[in-house]
Amino acid sequence: MLTVAVLISGTGSNLRALLEAARRPDFPARIVVVGADRDAEGLAHAAELGIPSFTVPFRSFADRDAWGAELGRRLDEWEPDLVVLSGLMRLLPSSLVARYAPRIINTHPAYLPEFPGAHGVRDALAAGVSQTGASVIVVDDGVDTGPILAQERIPVEPGDTEETLHERIKPVERRLLIDVVRRIATGDLALTP
Ligand code: GRF
Repeated sequence: MLTVAVLISGTGSNLRALLEAARRPDFPARIVVVGADRDAEGLAHAAELGIPSFTVPFRSFADRDAWGAELGRRLDEWEPDLVVLSGLMRLLPSSLVARYAPRIINTHPAYLPEFPGAHGVRDALAAGVSQTGASVIVVDDGVDTGPILAQERIPVEPGDTEETLHERIKPVERRLLIDVVRRIATGDLALTP
């Protein structure tokens, strides 16, 4: 049974979908812990579903490396087979990536390599494209530059705002993420750096 740690910063709607998928007896992975870099709303999903969680507040540390070292220590306590970044709005320090790579994956609300970074939805809208997408990738030292594990095109509709477009993207992200975790757990999908 693949053990999974999920890291979040926000509302955790993607986390919720993964938690619910993992509760099904036929799902080949278990979420063992949820971590956050702040007092994220999404931690409530872990509490509601009885999954342990921890918070390593970014602002409590002198710098990214110190924060990453503590985050690594908390993750090591659970020895997860896979780390899923699902709305974590922080770049992991390279020391932490090196420790877990390539067993760290991330969801991104754009069709990478289009629109990487923290504002993929906003950037797609600003670019005036007619379609964007959702992607699941392996985390490497870059910003959303790792190997693409799954992605799907999503239309941009006239009159879309960042919110309406992001809400159209998230369900696709969730479906891709759940499928990627399942395929990693069954060995169908091998993670390579
Ligand atoms: C997701 O679209 C994720 O790809 C992006 O931020 C969003 C998080 O949404 N990094 P939620 O916290 O899962 O609702």
